[in-house]
Amino acid sequence: MSERVVLAYSGGLDTTVAVRWLKQTQDLDVIALLVDVGQGGDTEVLRKRAMDSGALDAQVIDAREEFANEYVTRALAANALYQDRYPLVSALSRPLICKHMADVAHRYHARYLAHGCTGKGNDQVRFEVSLAALSPDLEVLAPCRGWGMTREEAMGYATQHNLPISMTPESPYSIDENMWGRAIECGVLEDPFVEPPDEIWERTVEPSQAPTGAAYLEIEFERGLPVALDGVALDFSALVAEVERVAGSYGYGRIDMIEDRVVGIKSREVYEAPGALALIAAHSELEHLTLEKAVLRTKRELERTYANLAYEGLWFSPLREALDAFIQTTEQYVTGVVRLKLEAGSLRVVGRKSAASLYEMSLATYDRDDAFDHKAAEGFVKLWGLPLKTWARARRSDAASRPGEGSWEGVEG
Ligand code: ARG
Repeated sequence: MSERVVLAYSGGLDTTVAVRWLKQTQDLDVIALLVDVGQGGDTEVLRKRAMDSGALDAQVIDAREEFANEYVTRALAANALYQDRYPLVSALSRPLICKHMADVAHRYHARYLAHGCTGKGNDQVRFEVSLAALSPDLEVLAPCRGWGMTREEAMGYATQHNLPISMTPESPYSIDENMWGRAIECGVLEDPFVEPPDEIWERTVEPSQAPTGAAYLEIEFERGLPVALDGVALDFSALVAEVERVAGSYGYGRIDMIEDRVVGIKSREVYEAPGALALIAAHSELEHLTLEKAVLRTKRELERTYANLAYEGLWFSPLREALDAFIQTTEQYVTGVVRLKLEAGSLRVVGRKSAASLYEMSLATYDRDDAFDHKAAEGFVKLWGLPLKTWARARRSDAASRPGEGSWEGVEG
């Protein structure tokens, strides 16, 4: 009997070729697994495609709610933006796919796991590192990285083996999407000086084509998670979709960036993520109102770490668990309402309120009801500045006793 391999199946050319190739060249029985994280496509058609390509079995798992509730909510609580801009759309879904691969491998007594990533991307790292953490005893295969076929050769292989995949020239772009946004790569976008063409956008309008005037969104959060939009309670996925729809219709949410991949390459990446960016803006603003100063400062530092580890494939790490525990503590207080204003491609926070607010009018006001202790400020400022004053005095006497020093010239000479 042949050994079994669980292949993360997308239904595209590479993974379809991989189904047959793993059987033909490695003598492995392939269990094709399509995990639906909201990437679109007719899953039943794709399942059948895997079977018709020679899979022993093909499974579809609808993981959209799990993705929303276990991954996206955490990323939002962490305000996670890789290199301060990318909300980790694809990076978040890979660990979830791996979790299901490991489960299915266990059920089918498979010895191998496989993915269809090439050697230049981040996803190979995310798959292999996540699978190593979840199933350290199974071996991971990366057929498309090793077989050395060009796209044309892969198409030739598909034709030769009668694989059920359409050979019409497809879009020049490589697209990955889910509820948190859409990533677009390749084609003319590979020239970082070329403006992204209109045809690539689906979730955002051109800002100059946005409706005239402004729209407001009031987002209510409870313990760090959005629970209502304009006073209407919505579940998380529905709320993200609706915020995305409105923000996108105002031309907000496009990202065009040079990104540092894990494998050391700089690449040009284009995204549209109006819902993610609007919600992160609102959520982080509410934290400014409700989190104590030192907690807020520390959280902002840790958010970077969080985004980096998710991007770099370290989701199933003790560090991520520890950071989630920290964030769970901070989020207890992040309850309230944030008002967003959308206008021709821009989004601004224009209001925030909370029962847990740390904003005290009597401390902040400049009018008669001012309760701030002005006398205490005098002593405080003196002591706060004392180290610098001491340093400045010492330098002055130093410079006086050693001519030539105390200037830049002196320091260098
Ligand atoms: N650069 C992004 C990431 O590594 C997006 C990758 C998207 N994949 C794609 N086939 N377009 O997370």
